[in-house]
Amino acid sequence: MANTVLVGAQWGDEGKGKVIDYLTDRVDVVVRSQGGNNAGHTVVVGDVKYILRLIPSGILRPGKLCVIGNGVVVDPISLCEEIGELKSQGVEISKENLLISEAAHLVFPYHKLIDEYRELAVGPNKIGTTKRGIGPAYGDKIARVGIRLGDLLVPDRFKDRLDSRRQEVDWLLQQYGAKPIDWRELTRQYLVAGEQLKEMVTNTVLELHGLMQEGKEILFEGAQGTFLDIDHGTYPYVTSSNTTAGGACTGAGVPPTRIDRVVGAMKAYTTRVGEGPFPTEDQGISDMLHAMGREFGVNTGRERRCGWFDAVATRFAVIVNGIDEIAVTNLDGLDQLETIKICVEYKREGKGVVSPPTCVQEFGRCTPVYIEVPGWKEPTTGAKTYEDLPKNARLYLEKVCELIGAKLSLVGVGQKREQTIVVTPELVAAS
Ligand code: GDP
Ligand code: IMO
Ligand code: MG
Repeated sequence: MANTVLVGAQWGDEGKGKVIDYLTDRVDVVVRSQGGNNAGHTVVVGDVKYILRLIPSGILRPGKLCVIGNGVVVDPISLCEEIGELKSQGVEISKENLLISEAAHLVFPYHKLIDEYRELAVGPNKIGTTKRGIGPAYGDKIARVGIRLGDLLVPDRFKDRLDSRRQEVDWLLQQYGAKPIDWRELTRQYLVAGEQLKEMVTNTVLELHGLMQEGKEILFEGAQGTFLDIDHGTYPYVTSSNTTAGGACTGAGVPPTRIDRVVGAMKAYTTRVGEGPFPTEDQGISDMLHAMGREFGVNTGRERRCGWFDAVATRFAVIVNGIDEIAVTNLDGLDQLETIKICVEYKREGKGVVSPPTCVQEFGRCTPVYIEVPGWKEPTTGAKTYEDLPKNARLYLEKVCELIGAKLSLVGVGQKREQTIVVTPELVAAS
């Protein structure tokens, strides 16, 4: 398989973790290039459930190299915890299979506090963040006052850099009425984490270029989803990184000329956590999925908002990411339905709208125009091949592809690794 970028084509939680785990079998290296531990990627192997936050989902496949790229924001305490959790589940992690960029920026406890207090300060206009400090950490990076993983490995430099942040951070937290930071304890804890991570920290850009020169193939694991992209999403109800395909290049230091294909992960319906417009949101489908025990956030446990498949939004995701193939997950979530709706257009003030408006207020005023297609009313969870799927399920998938203009490559019919149907073998064929 050539160098592939996998992106979320909706609002995150599209089942990227499962798709990545599946595709990892066919590549040599898996790279995370943006986001932080706001991500929660679920992979179920046998009866064991793994949750990946910062570590690429490829880590579950022995012999594969995983890389946390320069574009990721790393909470080193949380990363050490994640390594510990995975190790306790029997996953081997060492510098042999995990490398972390020395240019990745650090997330600090004060970023989490600022994240939380900013949300409180805006009250009803809150974003509904994961409170992991992601926005403030990226904010510091862009404002050029961030501290990087490479700094953490040189204690004196780290202390100096942190000292330079104290005055502003203390002042800001005081304005919020937050508890002051215990800088001495923070420094101690971070240096301990740095010591633990040290052997894995390196110049990952050079590592990746060396691997490409050897002919190794890379899979870029997107986090979040297209409509959470800082530039192309429903701003300000977005995360603080470029979640679209271009983010893989800047966040890993791999040029666009080395990307061969883009795969978009999407659910057979739509979900969103947090605030912001969501034209196809539907109480009926939310209730049905929650009653099935599905669609609860991995990180925060929040109920995900659920709705019908939105072909208008997803068509835009296909364009902005350059998606060649799609992996449709959670098809089985629609198994019980008599009829299924697909949004094919929006209406705003009586006029048709064929692409999501850039302005979030205008987007919020869009109402969906649906077509209805017949459901299949039988379980798809045991299907092994595309032909095993009920006819109406195949017609549904084909309609979705036609509406969004992309080719179908994988279909998910359950949480487990083996509940994955390959539709275009060339996508996953061994190189
Ligand atoms: P990610 O953040 O994109 O990796 O997705 P999450 O792991 O946050 O959420 C996706 C949820 O759907 C997880 O609970 C997965 O185990 C689950 N999942 C993924 N694909 C399928 C599928 O085809 N069928 C079912 N039933 N669950 C799936
Ligand atoms: P994965 O990788 C779904 C959402 C939050 C909130 C907004 C901003 O698992 O798909 P942030 O903490 O990033 O500042 O929150 O983005 N969000 C996600 N929603 N899946 C994710 O990641 C998300 N990461 C952030 O709910 O609305
Ligand atoms: Mg998730």
